[in-house]
Amino acid sequence: MTDLILDARGLTKRYDQFLALKDVELTLGEHEIHALIGPNGAGKSTAFGILAGDLRATAGSVAYRGRDITRMAAWRRTRLGMARSFQIARVFTRFTVEENVRAAVLAAQRKSWIFFRPEGSIETGPQTEQLLGEAGLAPLRGVLASGLSQGDRKRLEIAMALALEPEVLLLDEPTAGMSPVETTATVRLIRRLWEERGCAVLITEHDMSVVFELAQRITVLHRGQVLRSGSPEAISADPTVREVYLGSGDDA
Ligand SMILES: Nc1ncnc2c1ncn2[C@@H]1O[C@H](COP(=O)(O)OP(=O)(O)OP(=O)(O)O)[C@@H](O)[C@H]1O
Ligand SMILES: [Mg+2]
Repeated sequence: MTDLILDARGLTKRYDQFLALKDVELTLGEHEIHALIGPNGAGKSTAFGILAGDLRATAGSVAYRGRDITRMAAWRRTRLGMARSFQIARVFTRFTVEENVRAAVLAAQRKSWIFFRPEGSIETGPQTEQLLGEAGLAPLRGVLASGLSQGDRKRLEIAMALALEPEVLLLDEPTAGMSPVETTATVRLIRRLWEERGCAVLITEHDMSVVFELAQRITVLHRGQVLRSGSPEAISADPTVREVYLGSGDDA
């Protein structure tokens, strides 16, 4: 294993009586695409929330390049180089696609987006153009985010995360709700980001074709615990994984 960017140990999350995560170990290597899979309610988004700093773990630790960030606020983690997308995309619905990307570029430049002017007195143009192009959103630049399809909205969210020039991308179900065409475009986008920007990617996904197309390593969560972690080949051949998840007959 190459050097670890993210190293989470003993992650536990309790909601009253309910243990959503129990002693989960999760790592992300340099320039790795690691998929976290598991049935609905397995704890994937909870683990993401803890890694991103949106949720406080009941127990356990998270290290970023060897530095303990367990109690670090989410916005500080983004400055370290972590960016995320949410299961339900979070964008400024009353802004156009271009305005959203430009706002993200401004925020990344540590200027508050309240200084944002649609005419653009601050130099954000080249980076905004690059991100729009990269995410395949240039033709939609003038469309209000509220009017986007689910797929385009999720791609917009990825473009906004990229404005941070992250080393680590946390993508929670990036293709959820997408058509097959949108899914293919998104897989291509993630692969390109990984190749060209050298990001490490932690992704949750229910679509197994996406998982097996992208991931170099897969961790299976089941009822808040790691069931297995290994190569795609090992995971797809694992009888226990097949029984509880892959072979369950539904695609959840
Ligand atoms: N705020 C909360 N309070 C109580 N229980 C919660 C809370 N958030 C999540 N849970 C529970 O924790 C468990 C794990 O939820 P989580 O959202 O992490 O699952 P998931 O693997 O992301 O599922 P999905 O595939 O449906 O997105 C679920 O049983 C969920 O109901
Ligand atoms: Mg989830």
